[in-house]
Amino acid sequence: MPERYADRTRRMRAALTRGNPVVDLPLLQGFALTSTEIAGLQHTVCDYLWHSAFEFGVALDPPTGPDWFMRNAATLRKLPNVTPNGVVMPKIENTAAYNLLHHMVSSIVAKDLNPVEVAAVFAPINVRLVDGTPNAQVDARPRASTKVHSDIWAAEPSRSVTLFLTVMGDTDRTTVNFWEPKDFPAEYQCSMPDYLDGAPVTEGATPYPASFKNDLLLAMDAFCLHQTVKDGGGYRLSIDFRILYKRRLPTDAYFDTPRLQNYLPLPLWMGLGQSHMLVSRKSIKEFVPDVTLDAFASRFDVTGL
Ligand SMILES: [Fe+2]
Repeated sequence: MPERYADRTRRMRAALTRGNPVVDLPLLQGFALTSTEIAGLQHTVCDYLWHSAFEFGVALDPPTGPDWFMRNAATLRKLPNVTPNGVVMPKIENTAAYNLLHHMVSSIVAKDLNPVEVAAVFAPINVRLVDGTPNAQVDARPRASTKVHSDIWAAEPSRSVTLFLTVMGDTDRTTVNFWEPKDFPAEYQCSMPDYLDGAPVTEGATPYPASFKNDLLLAMDAFCLHQTVKDGGGYRLSIDFRILYKRRLPTDAYFDTPRLQNYLPLPLWMGLGQSHMLVSRKSIKEFVPDVTLDAFASRFDVTGL
């Protein structure tokens, strides 16, 4: 692999300090989760989904794990708090369950995040339930995650890294593909109305080996191009959220973005579900499912306990 992104690789490794990577690419690192972490994630994610359904009048049988998820995924995907890109949003009605899940996730990454390198972390975390069946209408949206894109084009800052936790479901066919761009010029480091506007950056990009497998913690640099794949496979459940680095590198060019207002200082993000709670002020009844905004579409507050 060329060394053009060596400084970005070094920054990612310094910020995330979990053992030896099982995926080791310049813009993408992956680490195995332990069986205890996997069980904890599956339990609390299913609980969050069950509560979301219950609050919105859908009575499901008690959650038991991945089998339960696969049995009920089609019903869950239709809940009114699920966005077209599959994010199961926290609302007033499922706020308590969200904070329990957030605490599970922060407990898992607590020892991995280096406070010398990490400034802030995005809240809320995204709980993403992806239907493997292509949907022409959803997949043609300006910022459909099925288009090859960098998260910078969704107004994420250049000095950010996305963490994925792959929890359960069909990650073989309902997966994410990754590419390394030949270059990422400063003029393309900005919010874009349509991901297709970034096409010149995607030309000639190097595809990475299949890396989006279950039971992993993946770290993806903001320069890493990626695309949700829907290939007629089953449902998939993963968690993703972004981390803001303290350090700026010479290659970083996009800093002041509307998304910054949703990044919480690392200690506060770690305290959600214990000393503080993330609280949605929007009821499911007010939910507008399909708006493209640079700022996060919903308002959230953090309250002390
Ligand atoms: Fe993305």
